[in-house]
Amino acid sequence: TIVILDFGSQYTQLIARRIREFNVFSVVLPCTVPIEQVKKLNPKGVILSGGPCSVYDADAPDADVGLLAMGVPVLGICYGLQFIVHHLGGKVVGAAAREYGHAEVTVVAETPLFRGLPGSLDVWMSHGDEAEELPVGFHLTAKTSNAVAGIADEERGIWAVQFHPEVAHTRQGMELLKNFCLDICGAKQDWTPEHFIQSTVERVREQVGTGHAICGLSGGVDSSVAAVLVARAIGDRLTCIFVDNGVLRKDEFQKVQTTMREQLGLNVVAVDSSQRFLEKLAGVTDPEQKRKVIGNEFIAVFDDEAKKIFEAQKDSQPSAAEEIAWLVQGTLYPDVIESSSVHGPSHTIKSHHNVGGLPANMKLKLIEPLRDLFKDEVRRIGRDLGMPDDIIERQPFPGPGLAVRILGEVTAERVAILQEADQIVVDEIKKAGLYRKVWQSFAVLLPVKSVGVMGDQRTYANTCAVRAVESEDGMTADWAPLPYEVLRTISSRIVSEVRGINRVVYDITSKPPGTIEWE
Ligand code: XMP
Repeated sequence: TIVILDFGSQYTQLIARRIREFNVFSVVLPCTVPIEQVKKLNPKGVILSGGPCSVYDADAPDADVGLLAMGVPVLGICYGLQFIVHHLGGKVVGAAAREYGHAEVTVVAETPLFRGLPGSLDVWMSHGDEAEELPVGFHLTAKTSNAVAGIADEERGIWAVQFHPEVAHTRQGMELLKNFCLDICGAKQDWTPEHFIQSTVERVREQVGTGHAICGLSGGVDSSVAAVLVARAIGDRLTCIFVDNGVLRKDEFQKVQTTMREQLGLNVVAVDSSQRFLEKLAGVTDPEQKRKVIGNEFIAVFDDEAKKIFEAQKDSQPSAAEEIAWLVQGTLYPDVIESSSVHGPSHTIKSHHNVGGLPANMKLKLIEPLRDLFKDEVRRIGRDLGMPDDIIERQPFPGPGLAVRILGEVTAERVAILQEADQIVVDEIKKAGLYRKVWQSFAVLLPVKSVGVMGDQRTYANTCAVRAVESEDGMTADWAPLPYEVLRTISSRIVSEVRGINRVVYDITSKPPGTIEWE
């Protein structure tokens, strides 16, 4: 086991995920965890994550300094480096120039951490503080043009880097993490998807006992994989509920029902609540408010449906009635981290539906078997579960659906306009063979009208933005350089086929600083 201590970075789970990529088991624990608990896990190594604070902040996350002297190798990342420097007698100062984004690092000393890496590293940085004086026993292993980028005290078994090896933009990051986990710590590579499936099925079986569970299906990869996993654990004591929230894609309500029943053999109850959702959304324009409205309504529908299932159970099996208490959701790690901090002080970016939208009085207990995983890991699990490719390869679709792609008020009419445009985008992207190459490709309806001319007639209608991004996990993304031909076809089809749209623009914003969805 590699223990990762979370100091509140947006990237902490990314460290765990990288380590899983080479089949090593790791756990993420809050930085404040008692040292005895860490020792009990008998870790091969400890990684200190980054974090949004400065070591001098009054509320700076703290950890037991004894963790640095347990006799197991330690790797500090970003804030982790500053924590080590600060607590072992060195000095951290506010950087003259904050470094964000790409940087070039020069390796200045031979160390097992950089073994096999080139002398110049292409890395990703995000920090406001830097090490000025190193603690006794430490030496510099790498630097940027103006700051410390790596340090080590090999005798004590402590290494640290100022950059983030876990993000995809650090080219040699994986090699560095492998050097640490495999060579320095000697961790075993025995953690595989089958392991994950097996241990999750066992855990769910134990949690649910003789009870029943319901699952919110969205038709996407996450909830389908979650449902299939839980069905494996408890069989037909899982009932899946698929809700039409009025902001689904065109024809999706019918298509998803068929797939889930016929291809996955799931027990599905389909509920058309579109009217109810659209009424609640009337007049709402604030993005966070939309997410909350949909999240709350979703849970309300669930509660209603759960009650019906309760009642039916009560009739057939009176003792089981109290036990239907579980709600399965396909929440992934990026949904969790961007909504709230798991352990530490990371900042809320958006209240992702299924997380931030949950009302406090919800009556069902949650099972979230994918909560620590990233999308591509979920796809791998789905494949291992034998699920068909057309479900596994679906592009992500947000819980609040088209509502977060309709800027301004969501009305039935605007949903219908966007459904048509969305279908054209997906259709053309598929025809061009790009559907699996891009992470997501979709249309956004803007509350902007502009003037156009069609068949000698003046038009005054809506603008549609097309967004296509490349990403590995949704945490960071680049806009996709779609071929001009594809853009041309999408644009001319939308303007000529979709009544209500007379202009199409292409979004060329990466994440960060943009987000993938517009709201
Ligand atoms: P953003 O817009 O935050 O999106 O860059 C990152 C990824 O998450 C998806 N997304 C959601 N998924 N519930 C979900 O299950 C949500 O509320 C939600 N909001 C965004 C988004 O489509 C992208 O893949």
